[in-house]
Amino acid sequence: MIAKGHDLNQRTWPLMKVLIIGGAGFIGVNSADYFLSRGHEVAILDNFSRAGSRRNAAWLAEKYRSISIEHVDVRTDLEVLRARVRGVALVIHEAGQVAVTTSVLDPRSDFEINALGTFNVLEALRQNNEGQVLMYASTNKVYGGLEHLGVVERNGRYEFDALSDGVPETEPLDFYSPYGCSKGAADQYVHDYARIFGLRTIVFRQSCIYGPHQFGLEDQGWVAWFSIRASLGQPITIYGDGKQIRDVLYVEDLAEAYARAYERIQITAGKIYNLGGGPKNTLSLLELVDLLGRRYRREQRVAFSDWRPGDQRVFVANINKAQEDFGWEPATRAAQGIEALATWIDANRGMFGQG
Ligand SMILES: NC(=O)c1ccc[n+]([C@@H]2O[C@H](COP(=O)([O-])OP(=O)(O)OC[C@H]3O[C@@H](n4cnc5c(N)ncnc54)[C@H](O)[C@@H]3O)[C@@H](O)[C@H]2O)c1
Repeated sequence: MIAKGHDLNQRTWPLMKVLIIGGAGFIGVNSADYFLSRGHEVAILDNFSRAGSRRNAAWLAEKYRSISIEHVDVRTDLEVLRARVRGVALVIHEAGQVAVTTSVLDPRSDFEINALGTFNVLEALRQNNEGQVLMYASTNKVYGGLEHLGVVERNGRYEFDALSDGVPETEPLDFYSPYGCSKGAADQYVHDYARIFGLRTIVFRQSCIYGPHQFGLEDQGWVAWFSIRASLGQPITIYGDGKQIRDVLYVEDLAEAYARAYERIQITAGKIYNLGGGPKNTLSLLELVDLLGRRYRREQRVAFSDWRPGDQRVFVANINKAQEDFGWEPATRAAQGIEALATWIDANRGMFGQG
């Protein structure tokens, strides 16, 4: 357990029902754990298409007898979605196709899961609007390649030339890749359903999230992927030169942001927020390799390959709006969070192909 700068348990709101769609995924399972451990009732829906999602669900079921876990596909199971949103205070929608590379290989599936799936969730709520709060896990990819923002190289890492607080929510949208388009369409639908139909929705444009229960792959979840490979003593391929910078956010801090945004729903309803590690929690790919090499006391083997489509040289979220509206900022420094992730991976090496 990581020490926090604020008390996570001092909540004033009553116990409530939380529905997490995509709840067996990485962010879903950690969010479920967050709310269950504070006494709330949680139900999760998932189609278990993500590798590791069944293990995550089993871990939750073992830890919390009260949890309800159901197989649901957001593309097709409209009746079930309509029924499950009833009587719920908070719906957190995390279900998604999550890799840019996969979206390029199969754009139709990507569209159906991310755009149509989110539309189905919105329609389920519109037809059963009891004032539920809907949170949508959008992405910083909606801002596109950001080539117009000057990027400089300093001390072996890229940085924005003149944007020290990072990219704000007012940055123009520029969907890039089918994933960017499907997530971006969903982002705008969720935002608009607040304006047109009065749904209480919040869009979170998330940066790189990392932490325990993340079954990182080469195509998605790079912090976890690098950490798994380092734990197993296996090589890593870096696409690009490794100097690209991301702001990284520990998953428990993300769940804390969801909780705080819910608490301040009078202010946050209908809004869009960037959620990331912000300027204080940035990491280049090479810096993570170095950190892991020191932790495991061996030189990490690395190969380099071409940049991937849509890869931003720098992304750092400006998180001031979240700070101002609901008093949130990341409590976990990158080095602490990566230690927690690596500890979880080491304890579960068997799941990653080594006992
Ligand atoms: N992890 C990150 O760094 C990050 C960053 C920005 C945005 N996001 C968004 O946050 C959400 C959660 O990400 P994650 O990292 O937990 O991913 P994840 O893949 O671990 O979780 C997604 C879950 O959705 C489920 N799912 C996929 N298709 C489904 C369908 N058709 N019906 C029902 N369930 C389905 C999967 O089985 C999985 O359990 C995604 O929408 C992703 O785009 C994640």
